[in-house]
Amino acid sequence: MLIIHTVEEMQAWARDMRVHGHSISLVPTMGSLHAGHLSLIDQAQAKADKVILSIFVNPTQFGPNEDFEKYPRVLKADIEKCQAKQLAVVFAPNAEALYPDGYSTFVEETAVSAGLCGLSRPQHFRGVATICLKLFNIIQPDYAIFGQKDAQQCAVIQKLVRDLHIDLEIVVAPIVRDSDGLALSSRNAYLSPSQREEARTLYRSLKIAKAMVDEQNIRSVDRVVAEVTHHLTKARRIRVIYVELVDRKTLQPAKAIHPGQQVLLLATWLEQVRLIDNILI
Ligand code: PAJ
Repeated sequence: MLIIHTVEEMQAWARDMRVHGHSISLVPTMGSLHAGHLSLIDQAQAKADKVILSIFVNPTQFGPNEDFEKYPRVLKADIEKCQAKQLAVVFAPNAEALYPDGYSTFVEETAVSAGLCGLSRPQHFRGVATICLKLFNIIQPDYAIFGQKDAQQCAVIQKLVRDLHIDLEIVVAPIVRDSDGLALSSRNAYLSPSQREEARTLYRSLKIAKAMVDEQNIRSVDRVVAEVTHHLTKARRIRVIYVELVDRKTLQPAKAIHPGQQVLLLATWLEQVRLIDNILI
């Protein structure tokens, strides 16, 4: 497995692979790899013969008061996990390579990014879209794999690819959860044991919503959203940022429930830790 740090070397390697007829899957990450990330590698390997995993804690997607500084950085352990998965390349560029002095170009999706997490993290999806477009340009992969865990991110990237005619297929992989239901996330490392206990409330409340729709045939968006919010606030330290039922593709708010087409998303603060989760309805 190659570990590449420079843009030039990454471009040259990818070009060489394409010339020799290989297909390439890209798995973009910020590192601190867990089983959720590893499941994306499996999907990537099923699609293409060469898999590149990128590790880059992208400064432009963090707001001024967010956790950029303390975001976990464990490159050595990450590389070992990738070695076990037999990847072709880990691409771990440094910030100066991607954002040199005088850097001034950003790409912004303005519809799908606007609501939900876009409201409380105004520059976030601009940073995500910019770094993903950079990676797509550097590597020119055939496939890029993203996790449903970040449902809005998936929708933004799919829109970016469509709107800018990027020749690439986006693959969305299902959410990997711990045995207690908590969606795996690098940020779970910030949770104390007692906070973690409360964090289980997120998935429990999503399952209540799904049962209301699937088993009780409830079709009122309001009732489902209200019930989820109520359940979340039973956890002493959870504060709700939003609970919304939206169309899976456009992320526009649902007026009525149409099973199979929608996703229920939530974002919360658990004291100092921001947690998101979602479930397909
Ligand atoms: P990061 O949070 O490291 O996540 C990398 C990828 O792993 C994303 O596509 C995310 O949705 C997926 N992922 C995270 N937790 C998951 C889980 N429990 N199950 C399945 N997939 C999961 O998302 C980012 O990094 C960044 O925004 C990035 C796209 C790399 C741009 O900087």
